Amino acid sequence: MQSPVSFRREDAGMPSVRVNWQVKTVLPVAFVLLNGLLLFLMATVSLRDPERHQVLIVAGCGAVAICAAVMIALAYLIQRPMVELQDKIARVGEGDLDVSVKFAKRNDEIGDLGRNFNHMVQQLRESREEIDRLHRTQMSRAEHLATLGELATGLAHEIRNPLAGIAGVIEIVGRDLPTTSPARAVIKDVRLEVAQINRILTDLLQAARPHPPDVRASDLNTTVEHAVMLARQQVLSKPIKIELEKNPQLPNVEHDSDQMHQVVLNLLLNSVQAIEGAGTIRVVVAAKKDKALISVTDSGRGISPEHLPFIFRPFYTTKGNGTGLGLSLARRIVEDHRGRIDVESELGRGTEFLITLPIHHSQVHAEDAEAAVS
Ligand SMILES: Nc1ncnc2c1ncn2[C@@H]1O[C@H](COP(=O)(O)OP(=O)(O)O)[C@@H](O)[C@H]1O
Ligand SMILES: [Mg+2]
Repeated sequence: MQSPVSFRREDAGMPSVRVNWQVKTVLPVAFVLLNGLLLFLMATVSLRDPERHQVLIVAGCGAVAICAAVMIALAYLIQRPMVELQDKIARVGEGDLDVSVKFAKRNDEIGDLGRNFNHMVQQLRESREEIDRLHRTQMSRAEHLATLGELATGLAHEIRNPLAGIAGVIEIVGRDLPTTSPARAVIKDVRLEVAQINRILTDLLQAARPHPPDVRASDLNTTVEHAVMLARQQVLSKPIKIELEKNPQLPNVEHDSDQMHQVVLNLLLNSVQAIEGAGTIRVVVAAKKDKALISVTDSGRGISPEHLPFIFRPFYTTKGNGTGLGLSLARRIVEDHRGRIDVESELGRGTEFLITLPIHHSQVHAEDAEAAVS
């Protein structure tokens, strides 16, 4: 048990006296009793009472008895619940949330404290159950996705070879057809469809088999411009304008140009698909401190707040012919570059994706390593 008076080091390093609560409570009682005793003594001295010694002894014993009774009552009413509370807090600290204090039944402030404690532990228990439940759901979803991913990559490989064969045959058939043949248009459509299937398969394989970026310092403006040019070709027949604002002041950015090209192209294709009729897509390259920024803003249909949290999930798509892999792939690539991708969208008005990349990829590595050491 703790001694009634002890020294303890405070945060500032100065020792301070810690006085036990029993001493604090009994001291005023003892002080009042002592005063009473002194008054009584003075009165008896002034009256020159011959039996004052016995009276004094009896009064002194009475005072000691009162002090002892007060201490016992306090120990029963306050110390016991405090010890129980300390014990239960220690058990909660060790992770046992099936505890409750018995003194919660009391109808006073200590009882209030007990009820609040029991309520808090119950809430903690409910939160932990909820977290466990969510964790189990996430785990089973992750397992499900992993199996699906394996299945998909297996299938992609199986489909790729016969598809290459079909593409070859179509090429030969197309070459042999007379220039006036109406079948030439069909051959062109089939070739486009085959290219589309190939693109989906490439996305799928890249999403399932990620490879680390081959980072080199080069002009990010050029990478973005190539993606914009490719997207412009896709919208030649549509009333969609793709504007590009480059940043000549931007120093060379350490990035894998093929991968970042694919990220920007994925965002642009999504924007194109989100625009019904006429619209504008604006791509801006900017610099902010030691970061490079790429924003892709469109005047498309926007994303509803219910859909927004899910768009980066693999296989999440709202399109009939979508794979749901474009954004998950984009995010993975950007995060492999130690960057981030954010989205803001308003239904019916448009969407903005913002990519933030470190200009010096290796410097971020070094900072990470320093943070890990310290
Ligand atoms: N610019 C955009 N405007 C509106 N919705 C978008 C945009 N970009 C992405 N989305 C939404 O996010 C979903 C996931 O996109 P993505 O991963 O590229 O897969 P996919 O394009 O195959 O559907 C899309 O189906 C769409 O609902
Ligand atoms: Mg897409």
